[in-house]
Amino acid sequence: MKTLDKNNLPKHIAIIMDGNGRWAKKRFLNRIQGHRKGVKAARDVVQSCSDLGIEYLTLYAFSQENWDRPAAEVSALMELLKRHLKRELPMMMENNIRFHAIGNIPSLPKSVQKVVSEVEEETGKNNGMRLNLALSYSGREEIVEAAKRLAMDAADEKITLEDITEEVFSGYLYTNNTPDPDLLIRTSGEMRISNFLLWQLAYTEIYVTETLWPDFASEHLLAAILDYQTRERRFGRTAEQMKMRAAR
Ligand code: IPE
Ligand code: IPE
Ligand code: MG
Repeated sequence: MKTLDKNNLPKHIAIIMDGNGRWAKKRFLNRIQGHRKGVKAARDVVQSCSDLGIEYLTLYAFSQENWDRPAAEVSALMELLKRHLKRELPMMMENNIRFHAIGNIPSLPKSVQKVVSEVEEETGKNNGMRLNLALSYSGREEIVEAAKRLAMDAADEKITLEDITEEVFSGYLYTNNTPDPDLLIRTSGEMRISNFLLWQLAYTEIYVTETLWPDFASEHLLAAILDYQTRERRFGRTAEQMKMRAAR
């Protein structure tokens, strides 16, 4: 069996946690029970990433498009979120994890917003792994919002057209101060990114597994990282160029 190269860990892992519904259906359970099991899987992955020394973990928990699901499912998801964020605060403190929510946070129910900001504040001084939770998130909306704020700063003469670079633009996204993901994991086999981190995934390595999210455990995380470690990240260059760089 291959072993993990501790010197080549992805600095930032992003995960599309998909398949809770299918997991439940296979067991003749309702979708909410799948989401409940999914929350446990998320907790374990947070712990495993923190133990491994991953610096940034971004979890896609609820997309803007997910608001179109049946109202009962949406409200059950909001309840789960509220309850578990609060419950996991001691775990985050113990592991020195800094929590941050990304997405259209004002569109969440007030009670969820309250817990989100409490946990952000409580963990604000931690300097271990940074955990981003994508809630009511849309990659396109994030880009449009960034463009709007940039336009406002230009109108206020805080910035000129010449100042606007890719780096400056990135700073207007929800993920400012976060390096782009090195590895994107999607569970449940779907080969799409579903409006997740459209800007940030430009050069991310993508790993799709058939494993359903509630079944995803540390061994699956390790398998994904091992696969990542076999990739040659060329960023547009040739394989020969990359070999020469590595030899230097
Ligand atoms: C992911 O599981 C959780 C959310 C999107 C909130 P799904 O609920 O999408 O599960 P499937 O895709 O129906 O199996
Ligand atoms: C993506 O999963 C969103 C989250 C995991 C939160 P979906 O299940 O909503 O994605 P689609 O609709 O199948 O693309
Ligand atoms: Mg799904």
